[in-house]
Amino acid sequence: MDPVRNPYRPGAGRRPPALVGRDQEIHDFDIALQRFEIGNDDRSQILHGLRGVGKTVLLHEFHRIAARRGWPGHAIEAGPDLDFPKEVANLARTALLRLSSRERLGALAQRGLSVLQSFRLRYQLPEGPEMSFGLEPILGEADYGSLDRDLTDLLLAVGRAAASKQLGALFTVDEMQFLRPAEMGAFVVALHRISQEGLPVMVVGAGLPSLLGKMGDARSYAERLFAFRRINSLDAGEARRALADPARRLEVRWTEGALDAVIGKTRGYPYFLQTFGQHCWDAVSHPGNTVHSATVREATPRALRSLDEGFFRMRFDRATRASRRYLRAMASLGPGPHLVREVAAALGTRSNRVSPQRDALIRLGLCYAPRRGEIGFTLPLFDKFLRRVTD
Ligand SMILES: Nc1ncnc2c1ncn2[C@@H]1O[C@H](COP(=O)(O)OP(=O)(O)OP(=O)(O)O)[C@@H](O)[C@H]1O
Ligand SMILES: [Mg+2]
Repeated sequence: MDPVRNPYRPGAGRRPPALVGRDQEIHDFDIALQRFEIGNDDRSQILHGLRGVGKTVLLHEFHRIAARRGWPGHAIEAGPDLDFPKEVANLARTALLRLSSRERLGALAQRGLSVLQSFRLRYQLPEGPEMSFGLEPILGEADYGSLDRDLTDLLLAVGRAAASKQLGALFTVDEMQFLRPAEMGAFVVALHRISQEGLPVMVVGAGLPSLLGKMGDARSYAERLFAFRRINSLDAGEARRALADPARRLEVRWTEGALDAVIGKTRGYPYFLQTFGQHCWDAVSHPGNTVHSATVREATPRALRSLDEGFFRMRFDRATRASRRYLRAMASLGPGPHLVREVAAALGTRSNRVSPQRDALIRLGLCYAPRRGEIGFTLPLFDKFLRRVTD
């Protein structure tokens, strides 16, 4: 079929042509915003799940919903090079300026920007353009030198400014597992104060399953502050809709057999569904306008190649040779998660001899530890890839 009209969208954070299976998350988020607006607070959220399940897409969707209600928002993507104080200053700045009308800074927004000035001074950040308002820093606010206290002061200032407008502020942190423990702890402490004061600041973090343990390690009460939601693969009915709905709108049909075949190969993982959808579409012949089982068979080698090159390979290549051997040993045992002890046995050694490789794989975000003594892949169907490729 015409590749120009191909609706499927494999990629990072790309909005799918049909966003299915996330109605509950979207509904609950919308309710949380409404609660905040009338002074009933709600919990911040953590979306956790494997690679390619649609966490980033959901964060984008949350920003759209919040923006429609007039809430200011700011998105952070954590990574090894994140300059945390700078991002935090940007986050406060965006929210405070959006909470002010063009002509006039509200009194609380003005105060918030002064708190931000102190924060900038303390963390040696360059002055922001809001300096043109001629605001002075407020000594003693957000300049203590501890991230816990200073982030708390900033978020309190944002929360008060938002509450005075019957709005709230949304901050999202994607790839949150990459935050350092002190940064993660600062968010937890700040949100604790925010929730004690009932202020409308919502933080939604997204990341790999390892995020759960990391938050618990940062502050033991993190569990009570956040609602943790696991983002999963789609069930068969949802996966059918993810494939068939976008095509139907363009007058292309999927047969039941073709849908079953793709669902079997992808196990309903969103990234894989988009990739197979894209290649199956390209293989459809005109004028039949139908994806048959034979179309899926024809498209499969291309879809797998594009997954191998675009999804698996670039991550696999980041691992050292020794870590790759570890991954292969895991794959030889099946999809996982596996007992660390058994992976070591498959390598013909003991667990402690290969713990550097295991730790490196967790740091890279290729693996996570579901429980003590266990190890799993963060990439769905990674075992199959590892058996498919030879190096
Ligand atoms: N609910 C959904 N229905 C159909 N397709 C989806 C859905 N959610 C996400 N996708 C598709 O899946 C792909 C991956 O989405 P996204 O980048 O949000 O995943 P992620 O969980 O953030 O992955 P990573 O952990 O690698 O960052 C995108 O191509 C997106 O269009
Ligand atoms: Mg993502």
